[in-house]
Amino acid sequence: MTAAILDGKALAEELRAEIARQVAAFKAETGATPCLAAVLVGENPAGQVYVRNKRKGCEQAGIDSQLHRLPAAASNAELLELIERLNRDPAVHGILVQLPLPDAVDESRVLDAVDPLKDVDAFHPQNVGRLMQGRPRFLPCTPHGIQQLLLRNQIPIAGSHVVVIGRSDIVGKPMAAMLMQRGTGGDATVTVCHSRTRDLPAVTRRADILIVAIGRAKFVTAEMVKPGAVVIDVGINRTDAGLVGDVDFEAVRAVAGQITPVPGGVGPLTIAMLLHNTLAAARMQAG
Ligand SMILES: NC(=O)c1ccc[n+]([C@@H]2O[C@H](COP(=O)([O-])OP(=O)(O)OC[C@H]3O[C@@H](n4cnc5c(N)ncnc54)[C@H](OP(=O)(O)O)[C@@H]3O)[C@@H](O)[C@H]2O)c1
Repeated sequence: MTAAILDGKALAEELRAEIARQVAAFKAETGATPCLAAVLVGENPAGQVYVRNKRKGCEQAGIDSQLHRLPAAASNAELLELIERLNRDPAVHGILVQLPLPDAVDESRVLDAVDPLKDVDAFHPQNVGRLMQGRPRFLPCTPHGIQQLLLRNQIPIAGSHVVVIGRSDIVGKPMAAMLMQRGTGGDATVTVCHSRTRDLPAVTRRADILIVAIGRAKFVTAEMVKPGAVVIDVGINRTDAGLVGDVDFEAVRAVAGQITPVPGGVGPLTIAMLLHNTLAAARMQAG
C-alpha cells in the first residue's frame, strides 16, 4: 500500500480564502479591521521565520498585524508592561507571544497576563479550562488545524482509536482533549503517549489515527504503524537534509492509508487557524 497524501497546504489555502471573505464581511459590517499583535523576544531565527509567516498570512487575509520586538535581555516587567498595553489597546484584537521565550523570562506569568479575550493561541488557563469543559472560546491553532484536516477529508473520528505521541501544552494535551469531546470532530477513544510510555510500538500499532508531536526526526518507523492507519506528523526538525517530520515518511508511507508530509502538512494549517482565531477575537470584542 502507498498512503494517500493529506495535503495541508492546499487545505490551508482553502481555509485562508474562506477567512479572507469573512474578514471582508466583518469589515463591511463593523468598519473595524481585525488586528493581531505579535510579540517577539530575542533573536531566535525560527521564531523570526514563524512570526514573518504569520504576519504575511494576516496581510493576505486582510487582517492588520503589528510586530513588537524586545531584546533577549528584556525583563519580565518590560514584557508584562507591553502585554498590558496591548490588552488595553482597543485596536488590537489578538495577542501572540512567540515561543520559546528566553530562559530568564517567566513564560507562564507572561502567557497568563494576556487578556483571555485576546488569547488567540488559547494558552491562557481560562481558555484551557474552557476547552477541557467542552465550551471553548478559542481552539489552539495546531490541534484545530489537524481536526479540520481530519474532518474535511472525511476521516472518521467518532469511535476511532486515536493515539497521540507527545503531551505538550501546545499540541499533545489539547489535541487529546479536542478529539475526546462529545460531538462533531470528537467522540474518539484517545490514548496519549510520552517518553515514559512502556512498549510504545505496541500502543501505536493499535491506532486508527496516529498523531505524532515529539520533535525527533523520523522517530516513527513503519513497524509502529497499523496498515491503513492515518498518520499525522506534527514534527518540524531542521536537519542537514532540510526540514523533516517526526515520522520516517518514505517507510511509513508504504504502510499507512493516509499521511501528512513535512513540510506542507500540519504547518500551514496552524497559521490558517491563527487567522481564524484573530477574526473570532475581533468579533467577540465587537460585541
Ligand atoms: N506544525 C506546527 O505547526 C507545529 C506546531 C507546534 C509544534 N510543532 C513541532 O512538533 C514537535 C513537538 O512540539 P511540542 O511543542 O509538542 O514539543 P515538546 O513540548 O518538546 O513535547 C514533546 C513531547 O514528546 C514526548 N517525547 C519525547 N521523546 C519521546 C519518546 N522517545 N517517546 C515518546 N514520547 C516522546 C515528550 O514526552 P515527555 O513529556 O515525557 O517529556 C513530550 O511530551 C516539534 O518538532 C515542534 O517543532 C509543529
